[in-house]
Amino acid sequence: MCGIVGYIGTDNAAIILERFLKSLEYRGYDSAGIAVYDNIKGQLNIKKTIGTINNLSEEITKNLKGSLGISHTRWATHGKITKENAHPQTSSNNKITIVHNGIVENYLDLKAKMIAKGYTFTSETDSEVIANLIDSHLDKNDINEALKIVLSEITGSSTIVGISSEDPNSIFVLKKGNSGGLVISENEKGEKIISSDPSIISDFASSYRYLVDSEIAILSSNTTNFVQEASKPESRLINITANTMINDDSVYQFKMEEEIFSQKKALERLISKKDSLIFKKLDNSKIEFKKVERILIIGMGSSFHAGLLGSSYFEAVSSIKSETINASEFIETKKVIGPEDLVIGVTQSGETAETIKGLEFAKIKEAQTIAVVEKDTSQASIISDTTINISSGPEFAVASTKTFTSSVVSLLLMSIKIAEKRNIVIKNLKELLENIGMLPSKVGSILSDISSIKSLSRKLHNQEHILYLGRGLLYPIALEGALKMKEVCYIHAEAYTAGEMKHGVNALIGDDMPSIVLAPKGSTHAKMLSTVNEITAREGRVIGLVSEKDLEITPLLSEHLTIESYHPLVDPILFVLPLQLISLYCSLRLKINPDRPRNLAKTVTVE
Ligand code: F6R
Repeated sequence: MCGIVGYIGTDNAAIILERFLKSLEYRGYDSAGIAVYDNIKGQLNIKKTIGTINNLSEEITKNLKGSLGISHTRWATHGKITKENAHPQTSSNNKITIVHNGIVENYLDLKAKMIAKGYTFTSETDSEVIANLIDSHLDKNDINEALKIVLSEITGSSTIVGISSEDPNSIFVLKKGNSGGLVISENEKGEKIISSDPSIISDFASSYRYLVDSEIAILSSNTTNFVQEASKPESRLINITANTMINDDSVYQFKMEEEIFSQKKALERLISKKDSLIFKKLDNSKIEFKKVERILIIGMGSSFHAGLLGSSYFEAVSSIKSETINASEFIETKKVIGPEDLVIGVTQSGETAETIKGLEFAKIKEAQTIAVVEKDTSQASIISDTTINISSGPEFAVASTKTFTSSVVSLLLMSIKIAEKRNIVIKNLKELLENIGMLPSKVGSILSDISSIKSLSRKLHNQEHILYLGRGLLYPIALEGALKMKEVCYIHAEAYTAGEMKHGVNALIGDDMPSIVLAPKGSTHAKMLSTVNEITAREGRVIGLVSEKDLEITPLLSEHLTIESYHPLVDPILFVLPLQLISLYCSLRLKINPDRPRNLAKTVTVE
């Protein structure tokens, strides 16, 4: 991982690659590199750096001449963050140069074979193995055959883009498996871009074509030859529509801030267009809802938390058995999955490797599948029976905020439609729909008065540990709040169901461990009151998010925020907003850039 860009054209390739790599920065990376073929000197020049692409600026303007090149931003998987491990990687005889996203799972075996053949290695990466492996087949095969053999030899999912010294005016591309996207695009000037992320080429061309598993192509300035092509290639040609959901006039310094405050608009759009975005989409889908006996939701991180709420919605609203499983454990748990299951992959990027693997596994087991994504043309939507677009607009900050709330609302709306499709009468449907309809204005009112949230952040940002406690539908919100705190503040934050406290976690209560309790009025209130009493009895400090006029819990709290409560299924969405903001403001106090937290990438295309 994390980003690939290639260019063939007439302009200065290095400058173009630098520009596109910068638009990929939001995905997170720790080193970068560019290779450009100088056809006057007849040599491929490679420049790499640890840290940001800016470190290459001087090299780009002074030393990288030529109009064909490949480039990469790396988020370390195999081997430390060093210049040697950054991409491009070359074969030991310098004939093959590649950039790579993904993981070659059998790289140690292949590396041993390459070493036995006399190849030497200068990096710790699995990617260098690919370069040597391609080269090792060139003595008996042309490049087309060599790439085909390599595709069959490597295991795991990979996208590879490279240059062979035998044909330096071409770029080869290959894709193994479904994780990690790769698109090729040509503009009217005849320039070509290869990219792992189609969203960055909207200003470059009006269409692109994405690659699927086992495709191999060789691109030169005049041609694009598919060495191996899957059937129906025309279906993989996508017209780029201008993204009207990107706000170019942002008044916010950070993307995370902008994205938190855009939640009112994002939800307004989703809810007002729910008929076309969700209901008709499910009506017109090929999913046989009557056949479904169980809905399994898979996702990672915030998308997993959104899924946990989704399962409660499917049970409560659609009266169907539902469970959410962390996508990385989905295959390992050895669940019995079959055609009567509907597997929903929640993934805003649509590229998360574990979720893709889970959807593939579901297909093998003949389950029906839906992808809930922000990007329609992502890998998850390509491999699923139906796609629901959460319509939040693209998210650039590493920590998910607006895509979390939009995923949750999408799942809630899906639960309503699925109930209808299964002839389930939803109790108090009118009231539920009214409350969903009021959600954007409630979100707006929480976001318009943030003074008490800011002052709470002042008191929390120096904590080393924080507990987040919830019950029922507020437990996934506690998980999400703790995740945000970990991600953008590096504070050790743990979420538990409040019921767990007496079973071990109470031992942690002390001066240095405040608890944030999510305690709306309703069915969990009385038990939450007991939890708060038990913590304060042990001298623990409790901060509460409570409903208005809570005269029972509020007196026990050291600080509290009030969230007006309306509806048990809808309120959890409101409770996450202060938690997002607390993390944002703690992060800013700690002088951490909330958009680029350390060690994290936005799009995680490897397992
Ligand atoms: C949390 C966060 C990550 C993602 C996770 C899944 O703030 O951003 O935990 O939620 O990596 O990503 P998607 O939704 O793209 O599958």
